[in-house]
Amino acid sequence: MRQKIVAGNWKMNLDLNEGKELLINILDSDISDNTQCVIAPPYIHLSGFKQMLSHTKLSLGSQNCHQQDSGAYTGEVSAAMLKSVGVEYVILGHSERREYFNEDSLGISFKVNNVIKHGLRPIYCCGETLTQRKEGEHFETIRVQIKNGLFQLNEMELLNCVIAYEPVWAIGTGETASPEQAQEIHAFIRKTIAQEYGDMVADNISILYGGSVKPGNAVELFNCPDIDGGLIGGAALDAESFVAICNSF
Ligand code: 13P
Repeated sequence: MRQKIVAGNWKMNLDLNEGKELLINILDSDISDNTQCVIAPPYIHLSGFKQMLSHTKLSLGSQNCHQQDSGAYTGEVSAAMLKSVGVEYVILGHSERREYFNEDSLGISFKVNNVIKHGLRPIYCCGETLTQRKEGEHFETIRVQIKNGLFQLNEMELLNCVIAYEPVWAIGTGETASPEQAQEIHAFIRKTIAQEYGDMVADNISILYGGSVKPGNAVELFNCPDIDGGLIGGAALDAESFVAICNSF
């Protein structure tokens, strides 16, 4: 059985008090046992939030990390440091990092390797732009992102990864991929993995959908056979919406 995962990517939102209030409201709610919920706040909140999450079923994620363990990289945070404060998941290769910080899949593959080395789980993001989709390049774009970012891993390492398909045109736009569009790409990602690693790996890897997921569309998306959960942006900043999405399986 593939793990069901819903991760909230808070991006660069919420100061300490606002973040604590949101987290308390989430923790006060009932979240179904069959979903692994992950909260990915800004780095600065991670250590304090870990204390609040102890003895709960929620896991902590970060939104990025550096590929080296330590060194003269001003402003950066390493996977080793994240591990030391109790982080379990690391979002890597988000389209906002690719667009605003010039990250590419090969560079991200070094981060993936380092995150795996420290026993953390990457949530590796892929997704096409609107232009790429209009020009029919979406399958090839995704295939190359998956190959260049993840196919350096061995089977066991890949099984520790989570993949998030986030079409760039659906992020923060209110325009969600239809369940058919999302399912088509998720099935394609699974097939691409099966061709390289075999069916056992492909069948057991969780593939999340991200891009304007809301309580009103989560059930339909999560009902698709190859969609194993969501990576949630805007709706993760509201406790009621986030919990409703977590309970949408
Ligand atoms: P929205 O849910 O706000 O569209 O953001 C999706 C996202 O980028 C999650 O990483």
